[in-house]
Amino acid sequence: MISCLLLCGLMIIAAGDHAMMQVQGLGCNWGTRATHPLPPSIAVRLLKENGFDKVKLFEPDEGALTALGNSGIEVMVGIPNDLLASLAGSVTAAENWVSRNVSSYISKNGADIRYVAVGNEPFLKVYKDTYIKTIYSAMENIQAALIKAGLGRQVKVTIPINADVYQTENDLPSGGDFRSDIRDLMLSIIKFLSDNGGPLTINIYPFLSLYMDPNFPVDYAFFPAAGTSSTVVVDGSISYTNVLDANYDTLIWALEKHGYSSLPVIIGEVGWPTDGDLNANIQYAKRFNQGLLNRLNLGQGTPKRSSSPPDTYLFALIDEDAKSIEPGNFERHWGILYYDGQLKYDLDMGNNRTLQPAKGVKYLPRQWCVMAPQASLDDVNMAESISYACSHADCTSLGYGSSCGSLDARGNASYAFNMYYQANDQKKEACGFSNLSAVTTVDPSQGSCRFEIMIDTSVKNHEKARSPGVTTSSAATQLEETFEIMLHCTMMFWIVMLVTAIS
Ligand SMILES: *[C@@H]1O[C@H](CO)[C@@H](O)[C@H](O)[C@H]1NC(C)=O
Ligand SMILES: *[C@@H]1O[C@H](CO)[C@@H](O)[C@H](O)[C@H]1NC(C)=O
Ligand SMILES: *[C@@H]1O[C@H](CO)[C@@H](O)[C@H](O)[C@H]1NC(C)=O
Ligand SMILES: *[C@@H]1O[C@H](CO)[C@@H](O)[C@H](O)[C@H]1NC(C)=O
Repeated sequence: MISCLLLCGLMIIAAGDHAMMQVQGLGCNWGTRATHPLPPSIAVRLLKENGFDKVKLFEPDEGALTALGNSGIEVMVGIPNDLLASLAGSVTAAENWVSRNVSSYISKNGADIRYVAVGNEPFLKVYKDTYIKTIYSAMENIQAALIKAGLGRQVKVTIPINADVYQTENDLPSGGDFRSDIRDLMLSIIKFLSDNGGPLTINIYPFLSLYMDPNFPVDYAFFPAAGTSSTVVVDGSISYTNVLDANYDTLIWALEKHGYSSLPVIIGEVGWPTDGDLNANIQYAKRFNQGLLNRLNLGQGTPKRSSSPPDTYLFALIDEDAKSIEPGNFERHWGILYYDGQLKYDLDMGNNRTLQPAKGVKYLPRQWCVMAPQASLDDVNMAESISYACSHADCTSLGYGSSCGSLDARGNASYAFNMYYQANDQKKEACGFSNLSAVTTVDPSQGSCRFEIMIDTSVKNHEKARSPGVTTSSAATQLEETFEIMLHCTMMFWIVMLVTAIS
């Protein structure tokens, strides 16, 4: 192992001389839970211009899959957890799913679908046992359906799992094993994947390590800057400088212990949010993502699998303002780009290429809804108006330590009113908060706080043809679901926060 580390070090130095090195197998997650989604044709061009040759979708979004046709980008398409029970219970359901959501896009559309991700983090502890009984059969039925459709070689089944399915008793990667409550199931899944040539997909979030543990050593969440050494964990002959490597290798050790040392393991989600928490900011996000990209550019793997980096899908391409914020306010800010594909920060993508913003996006008119100049913070309707706005739109940038966290009380009200107004396509009545609000054409943005203008989703051809099926019923259902969750959780939160702030 020591000699390998030395050798790898030498190889890295050699590779560093070649400015032409390109990130191999760089993927990106493209989520579509947004009130005003970026038009699929623009998103696909964004992926291509930034050198992403793989994309992961959380569901077979029609607009996305249509736009990805003949793009040359490999696609991983996900099956949402709520479909697992029906797919587990019926081979026919699985066949229909594959036929409609995989085969047709490959044959009619030229989409290069390579993976079907069955479920999404089905073993998260918050789901309790909901998916434990169905995940394996769903995977079997989808695999059988793929084979029946003649896609058994081309399209592989995988399961994206959260890193909490494994743990280590001695805090070292070499102590890694699967969580005892699901060990047998994990071993069955792994055997199945191995038998069918599918990879295991793992989501790893150093940000969450920091978020959940205030004592977590900050530097260990990031990759060390070139030329610095910051060993934090020594495991036998291996020195770990960052939690991503240590976490990934914990899984590799667990696989090795059970005889699967060569099972391919994809990193399905990794990234850093830019807003909604003290540790979710542009500086940290840039530091993390640049460190990750540099490593991928060098072709460097983890200590246990050092010969090449795992296929890695950044989370995520763009922000999604309609995602559930149950995990935290940061959940809507994971994009390396804003919701509209505009730059948050520079990134060196490798191959002499810097991160490029989206082009050709059409926006609603340049106007905002703000608190009316003559309105008073003491108005009896004020608190209720704000909480109503925030329970129907995205106010996650208003919290402590967030990009709009230092607005004054009037600024808070304006921000809330504007988000509601924009989320509702700038409809006149969406700026009618009991005469407390007014439309302005003067940009109210202050410092780090951006008062956004939404994408004009009524424009049917942002640059060229945009598929007609963009606003699918499933997207609408998602929004309803999300707003329901928001109404239940966010409403209480914002009422408490804003009413106290204002009174
Ligand atoms: C295609 O996928 C969507 C989303 O997963 C699902 O709702 C739909 O039922 C699927 N179609 C078929 C025919 O199974
Ligand atoms: C990278 O870009 C710089 C500045 O534009 C240029 O001088 C250099 O030749 C480029 N290198 C390669 C390998 O293309
Ligand atoms: C603005 O809103 C945020 C979030 O609720 C709150 O923390 C802050 O105290 C408010 N500021 C003022 C001046 O009311
Ligand atoms: C808003 O102002 C208009 C004109 O001043 C007035 O007629 C109306 O009653 C007011 N509405 C509310 C809800 O206060």
